[in-house]
Amino acid sequence: MIVYCNGEFMEKSKVVISPDDRGFLFADGVYEVIRAYQGRLFKRAEHFDRLAYGLKELRIGGVDLNSLAAIAARLLTDNGLAKADATVYLQITRGSAPRSHRFPPTGTPPTCYLEAKPFSPPTNVQQTGAAAITVPDQRWARCDIKTIALLANTLAHQQAHEAGAFEAIFARNGVLQEGSHSSILFVKDNVLISPPLTNHILAGITRSVVHSVAAAESISTATRSCHEDELPEFQEVLMVGTTVDIVPITVVNGRPIGGGAPGPIARKLQSALHKLTQPSPS
Ligand code: PDD
Repeated sequence: MIVYCNGEFMEKSKVVISPDDRGFLFADGVYEVIRAYQGRLFKRAEHFDRLAYGLKELRIGGVDLNSLAAIAARLLTDNGLAKADATVYLQITRGSAPRSHRFPPTGTPPTCYLEAKPFSPPTNVQQTGAAAITVPDQRWARCDIKTIALLANTLAHQQAHEAGAFEAIFARNGVLQEGSHSSILFVKDNVLISPPLTNHILAGITRSVVHSVAAAESISTATRSCHEDELPEFQEVLMVGTTVDIVPITVVNGRPIGGGAPGPIARKLQSALHKLTQPSPS
């Protein structure tokens, strides 16, 4: 696999990252995962805007964001993915400097890494639906930044996996926020409900695509906080994100949601999203 690291394209096995890298020492960095369909980056501008926001909030400078799209495109070509479905992973850290809580000296170059690899979405659970569990949200208070500090997310996801579930849904004081690696939407009274975009959740790009698709499909939408106690009242729960598309959540904490099977709104949104992402045959 050919990857990009700090100005060079090279075999992944040749990449050298310093043990002094702030990403390694402090999880001091941000990342993005972008889907590519037939070599075309999906919602590229939105992903780069979110990356720029994260860099600004963390005060990481010196990144030439304008060059990254071309680097991603070259990685897709160089790895034979120009006609395939793939993901591009992109990570930027504050760079490498002897360990100190203080920022490194001005001018320390950030570490910039990109890779592209083939990707297949989880079509089985998209069809059958999947189980989720709720877990207490033990993350920090800036979940709006897509940082590489994902320990609470991985612990939650592992807990879900060990419980035989597909995703963990974070609940902060009983308020349902998002999944360990996805946004979560709810359906009640035939209205698609999204939790408000606060510092406690990521502004998911798939979530915003789903909103536009819902409007086009004449599905009513609302934004409001949803509480764990409401779970028995939801007709549907949807997990949405770059690496899952739309997965109906049919069971939460062992209890069925709605009829315990994927619902009509999930189905409608799935097919509308599919039309949007699959290039029309020419
Ligand atoms: N995760 N919330 C969290 C905590 C996430 O990690 C993600 C995506 C989302 C969905 O965002 P988007 O629709 O923009 O992908 C919401 C990525 C894919 C990951 O960590 O692999």
